[in-house]
Amino acid sequence: VALLIVSIVAAYLLGSIPSSVWYGIGYFGIDVRKQGSGNAGATNTFRVLGKRAGTVVMLIDVLKGWTATCLASMLFYMNEIGETELLVYKILFGIIAIVGHIFPVFVNFKGGKGIATLLGMVLAIHPELASVCITIFILTLLASQYVSLSSILATLAFPVLSWAGMFGHPEPLLIVFGFVMFVLVVFTHQKNIVRLLNGNENRVNIFGKSKG
Ligand code: G3P
Repeated sequence: VALLIVSIVAAYLLGSIPSSVWYGIGYFGIDVRKQGSGNAGATNTFRVLGKRAGTVVMLIDVLKGWTATCLASMLFYMNEIGETELLVYKILFGIIAIVGHIFPVFVNFKGGKGIATLLGMVLAIHPELASVCITIFILTLLASQYVSLSSILATLAFPVLSWAGMFGHPEPLLIVFGFVMFVLVVFTHQKNIVRLLNGNENRVNIFGKSKG
């Protein structure tokens, strides 16, 4: 039980690391929460600070989700637990890291929207499905230039494709987890959804020039 509590706290603290805020203020003297969409995430870092900074923040945020999820394997392989139990712990730690990213203790509980951290988690749990979701994200982005719409559709693709049995027998745990994540992502993207419906959501010019 002590080990479990330590892991939960570690996953939360890991997820809480506000990479966009610390990197922006520390390296550029700019708070990304005060510019662009105001979101403390990789997309807004790309928007406000350029490609290089956006890439660094995205990689850190992906790594947070990946590491928190892998914490389950590291700690629980030794304890001889079954595959299903291991998956439960991976999902638990991953979700806690995502919650940490959205509500980070280090910056007044106002963080990002969870997409990069969710990607890290999904890469650790099901890399094949994660690759398909990344492809859906990229295709949607190329077609629409909306990062938010791409994030929402890629998130929805995970449980739907799991359910469809794209990579073997559907795993109920993954389907339920995927739909819970979809609800969370819709929640964090409420303002984006309103802007998408009103036709005034920010577009990105993927091939355009950027500061970084
Ligand atoms: O991952 C967040 C993205 O989907 C939207 O970010 O800054 O455009 O609200 P933003």
